[in-house]
Amino acid sequence: MPRPILATIHPEALRHNLARLRAATPDARIWAIVKANAYGHGIERVFDALRGADGFALLDLLEAERVRALGWRGPILLLEGVFEPRDLELCSRLGLWHAVHCDEQIDWLAAHKTQVPHRVFLKMNSGMNRLGFSPQRFRSAWARLDALPQVEEISLMTHFSDADAPRGIAHQVRAFAETTRDLPGERSLSNSAAALRHAADAQVRGDWIRPGIAVYGSAPDFPEHDIRHWDLQPTMTLSSRVLAVQQLQPGDTVGYGSSFTADAPLRIGVVACGYADGYPRHCTTGTPVLVDGVRTRLVGRVSMDMVAVDLTPVPQAGFGSAVTLWGRAGDGTVLPIDEVAAAGGTLSYELMCALAPRVPVVVEG
Ligand SMILES: Cc1ncc(COP(=O)(O)O)c(C=O)c1O
Repeated sequence: MPRPILATIHPEALRHNLARLRAATPDARIWAIVKANAYGHGIERVFDALRGADGFALLDLLEAERVRALGWRGPILLLEGVFEPRDLELCSRLGLWHAVHCDEQIDWLAAHKTQVPHRVFLKMNSGMNRLGFSPQRFRSAWARLDALPQVEEISLMTHFSDADAPRGIAHQVRAFAETTRDLPGERSLSNSAAALRHAADAQVRGDWIRPGIAVYGSAPDFPEHDIRHWDLQPTMTLSSRVLAVQQLQPGDTVGYGSSFTADAPLRIGVVACGYADGYPRHCTTGTPVLVDGVRTRLVGRVSMDMVAVDLTPVPQAGFGSAVTLWGRAGDGTVLPIDEVAAAGGTLSYELMCALAPRVPVVVEG
């Protein structure tokens, strides 16, 4: 018998979330972001549900090969472009579109021998200061690319640092719009937060949006808004079972470091899930969890293989009861991953990506 922990991927929820993004930006095409193995879900597991996207965007050339191996003939975009000159051969062979964010990548393209000219996405650093050409250098980079026989078409892209936050995107949109005003080519600016929060502006929607986290059923601007506000559905459930019950007396403590002390008699369930499964160790007493679909709380510290939960709101629960660490319980009750991540001082992105290899994963349906 394996441990009862299990991750379940929900294809219907992926389809629903994609449709939500489509409805928010009806005139834009959608890059489904499947980097980091589809945010921890597994590219092969989400592929079918996300076929309705217009393209797949990712970082890793091996992941691009996996998408082609699944039979996808449409666009694939390498969001960071190529990492060394010979990667361009794979781009030619697999027809990958690639970002160009630095001079070195243009040098490599200029030296690349290919029968198939490439489609590139020239990236502007409009304020995030991660990748891309500054507005001052962007146009000369464009002119260099435009002169290359290796380049068929140049699209223009940038990435927002604060689409989910009070600072917003106006300063970056302005820098991008001013610099690219008379340049031809398709535009791509928006991640999930921009696509949902700022989509009324056609400039922000551009020709292609690039949503990741909203596709995977997490609110990009939690806690300001939650998935119910954005009508998104969880795409990953982490579930397990109670493998032991303890009856505590006042003064009894729970787990390493005795960080929780009962002040009254308390029944707790010990659950087969720990930080070695990818559950965040920084989650402490009070982190929400569902037992038999009923919301309760974690008590004490997370250990490698176990956590303890308060069984007070679920008196009928006991050995073998179903526990939902995040996602959707059997009765349909939802525990948004955003709430668990916030309790652990992190983001849903990290939790999804950190799902440990030892956790078995199934695709619903
Ligand atoms: C360039 C780029 N575009 C789009 C995304 C998707 O962002 P999100 O998951 O917040 O929608 C990312 C993710 O970090 C990214 O790096």
